[in-house]
Amino acid sequence: MHDFYSQFPDDFLWGCALAAHQCEGAWNEGGKGISTADVARLGGIGKARQLDDSVLPHVHYPSHLGIDFYHQWPQDVKLLAEMGLKCLRLSMDWTRIYPKGIEASPNPEGLKYYHALFDALLAHHIEPIITISHFEIPLFLAQNYGAWKNREMIDFYLHYCQTLFTEFKGQVTRWLTFNEINHNENTSEAAMASAYRVSGIRYDRGENISQIAAQSSYYMMLATAKVVKLAHDIDPQNQVGCVLALHPSYAFDCQPETALKSLQCLESDLYIADTLCRGNFPDYKRRQLAKRGLTLDIQPEDECAFQQGKLDFVAFNYYSSTVCMLDESQYPQGNHFKGGKNPKLPETKWGWQIDPTGLRYALNLFDRRYQLPILITENGIGLEEKLSGIEPIEDDQRIAYLKAHLQALKQALIEDQVHCIGYCLWSCFDVISATTGEMRKRYGLIYVDQDDEGKGTLRRCPKKSAQWYAQIIKENGKNL
Ligand code: BG6
Repeated sequence: MHDFYSQFPDDFLWGCALAAHQCEGAWNEGGKGISTADVARLGGIGKARQLDDSVLPHVHYPSHLGIDFYHQWPQDVKLLAEMGLKCLRLSMDWTRIYPKGIEASPNPEGLKYYHALFDALLAHHIEPIITISHFEIPLFLAQNYGAWKNREMIDFYLHYCQTLFTEFKGQVTRWLTFNEINHNENTSEAAMASAYRVSGIRYDRGENISQIAAQSSYYMMLATAKVVKLAHDIDPQNQVGCVLALHPSYAFDCQPETALKSLQCLESDLYIADTLCRGNFPDYKRRQLAKRGLTLDIQPEDECAFQQGKLDFVAFNYYSSTVCMLDESQYPQGNHFKGGKNPKLPETKWGWQIDPTGLRYALNLFDRRYQLPILITENGIGLEEKLSGIEPIEDDQRIAYLKAHLQALKQALIEDQVHCIGYCLWSCFDVISATTGEMRKRYGLIYVDQDDEGKGTLRRCPKKSAQWYAQIIKENGKNL
């Protein structure tokens, strides 16, 4: 433990983040099964996604191709090493290990691929931090078991995790159970699309959406708690976290009612982190659900599982803040974040508002509330960029965004003494956008020559921001 922070600590984890289905491609190679991400009909923000088997024959369907990381990772890892990364947060694709999710033994080719990748990262002193399920599950489990609607999913997930913890013992010690676990519950149209994306849940006509959303979140939390215990039992070195999507919701005006609503809005996300960090499903949540006529399947033994499986660290993705208004009709339609526009903030082409102070706010909130180490698992900006013949691409707008956010992080560390252990930038490479399925929404420090139709050489071209980030890492953030 550090006495206090006067600088970034020497062991600060400067990193980047990736997700398997957005970068790997090779959707039907190496013994891989079909995942929900392979058949998600991408309709852009606000349009509910559906399972659509008709996309299967399309080799150039965006997530089928990714950026071909599955084949190009040896060169890609070298590029990451040149930047001096200390960690890479990446997800494993469940269907590479268990193609249907129900097999007794794992797919050896899938294990081999990840072993080789992790070995290469470690050889370059880059720690792999693994997301166990990032917006995908085996399609078989979605179609035959209803995904996370079903308690049986917990056992399938534990079986998968047991394999990971046993196989990759010694190579991986930091694990994240789910990406953005809190997306599940928001039942706006845009968020229902997210529910499919996050947990493979499809709402059928006549189903009680609120009931299913709350129940599936409960099962995912319970799965997380059980996985924490399993991870510790297999290797006491293991550290487990779970990622929340965090977008602070500021009160739009100083009316006390708006302040109250904004607090309640934040709490509706934080109750998940509360459960996982404190080791019990809050009574107020149970009462709130009961008041709405919703009864969850909660078994007596669950209480013990939550108690025994408290998280080792907390993690969140931060891109933007929102504002809370009493009159929700003023909220822009179809936005990824539920909330109104903040007139004080600029925004990206996709309407994501840029708010570095929001990152400091989020860090303070988590630090004071949970008193656990914090890992920032994603932060970055989507921009439209093109190769023009002059390289590197001068992505000054990205550098400005990252610099402002890292300065806010440094203030949180030094002025507020927040215990933040690392920062994973989204992303090292341009990848397929999770919400739009496009390539044109580019987040990478390294450009990838591919367009929305899957055309291009896939050549990797480091942008100006890649050199900039390498320098920040080299100086350990001293000149921020
Ligand atoms: C995060 C996800 O919510 O946002 C990533 O964890 C995603 O998977 C990132 O790519 C950016 O979103 P998008 O839709 O612009 O790619």
